[in-house]
Amino acid sequence: MATTNKSATLTFDGKTIELPMMSPTAGPDVIDIRKLYAQGDVFTYDPGFTSTAATDSAITFIDGDKGELLYRGYPIEQLAEKSHFLEVCYLLLYGELPSATEMVDFEARVTNHTMVHEQMHYFFRGFRRDSHPMATMVGVVGAMSAFYHDSLDISDQWQREVAAIRMIAKLPTIAAMAYKYSIGQPFIYPKNSLDYASNFLHMCFAVPSQDYVPDPTLAKALDRIMMLHADHEQNASTSTVRLAGSSGANPFACIAAGIACLWGPAHGGANQACLEMLREIGSVDRIPEFIARAKDKNDPFRLMGFGHRVYKNFDPRAKVMKESADEVLDLMGVHNNPLLQIAKELEKIALEDPYFIEKKLYPNVDFYSGIILEAMGFPTSMFTPIFALSRTVGWISQWKEMITDPNQKIGRPRQLYIGETTRNYVDVSNR
Ligand code: CMC
Repeated sequence: MATTNKSATLTFDGKTIELPMMSPTAGPDVIDIRKLYAQGDVFTYDPGFTSTAATDSAITFIDGDKGELLYRGYPIEQLAEKSHFLEVCYLLLYGELPSATEMVDFEARVTNHTMVHEQMHYFFRGFRRDSHPMATMVGVVGAMSAFYHDSLDISDQWQREVAAIRMIAKLPTIAAMAYKYSIGQPFIYPKNSLDYASNFLHMCFAVPSQDYVPDPTLAKALDRIMMLHADHEQNASTSTVRLAGSSGANPFACIAAGIACLWGPAHGGANQACLEMLREIGSVDRIPEFIARAKDKNDPFRLMGFGHRVYKNFDPRAKVMKESADEVLDLMGVHNNPLLQIAKELEKIALEDPYFIEKKLYPNVDFYSGIILEAMGFPTSMFTPIFALSRTVGWISQWKEMITDPNQKIGRPRQLYIGETTRNYVDVSNR
């Protein structure tokens, strides 16, 4: 990030402060307010960070007006069509597409780490069987710091690297184990002859008593879902990972924090909430009723899978996802899937409605992903875990970038205090 010749002038209370400006390689210029408090004795106020760049980053870029998403400069549409998830992992982690040898080496490193410590199997038993797999994942991923002591030292570049590979390799295993545990089936060990997505399907759907061969078309569709979810610049869970990591917390603890944040229905939990909403709508003729509810200021209902903080044109991931939904449903022999019909009709009606047009609300990545995942055989409770395992590489790439950033400081926002000022303690007998 380069300082420009431009600066911003802020005038208040008879003071004038010159603030330097910086230019990114893409996106709007930023006003550097780091010295504002020291020079002007004021804070800025920005709940939800709608106008605040909390860091510089060279990983992912979104142009919300154009509906553009780039990983290290490469458009998501090109990656979704031509690349595969592990190659995207390499790109996000190291900044460049791998050569053929680098790819083989990276795949071997990830594959080498797919199993979890055997003791972790017993750890699962502490959870209730009806736990949501996300609840189990937060606990088990956090507990990785109790199992992998040789990759906790964040000042050691090699240990950071091992922690990154471990998490990319083990998150599918942990997510599949959380699922198997919740349905009372035995854990299925990873099978390293399979590619990343096929291995995950195998760990979720195989049982020891029967042969299971993952369908390559389904594996490809799942791999694409993983690519689409791999990173998304400074979203809530990524910012959570960065904030947790800014204190020097170990990488497993930081990723567990990211998983906890992702679970919320406004973020990664939206794919589950969206499918549940489509089920609740139930038939095309009830769509107007739900559209009316979404527009009613007195009703907290929102159209799940609609709207985005950054995309104000369309979410490019949703386009790819919609095409995948048709492909996967065809493959599964699911014709005229009622939920897909409701989703398509809902999208059409919402996109023609002045409320959604005016507020620039478009389908996001979560609108169609649930339909695909359900057609693949995943229960709704597994939708967010699949988002989590796909986003792990983004979280860890951003965490690694932060650790090596010379400007990195512990995250410590300030506040606009609106509570009581100093007052004296009153004894209970006088209250
Ligand atoms: N349905 C109806 N109205 C909506 C919706 C929606 N889905 N989303 C936003 N609005 C309205 C909102 O009521 C507000 O209206 P007003 O200006 O009259 O108060 C306006 O649009 C702006 O909304 P906001 O909440 O200020 O916008 P935000 O940037 O803070 O929120 C969001 C973004 C994604 C949380 C929100 O659009 C939402 O809750 N969507 C539904 C949940 C969802 O699909 N989340 C997945 C996001 S993509 C995957 C991910 O990143 O995890």
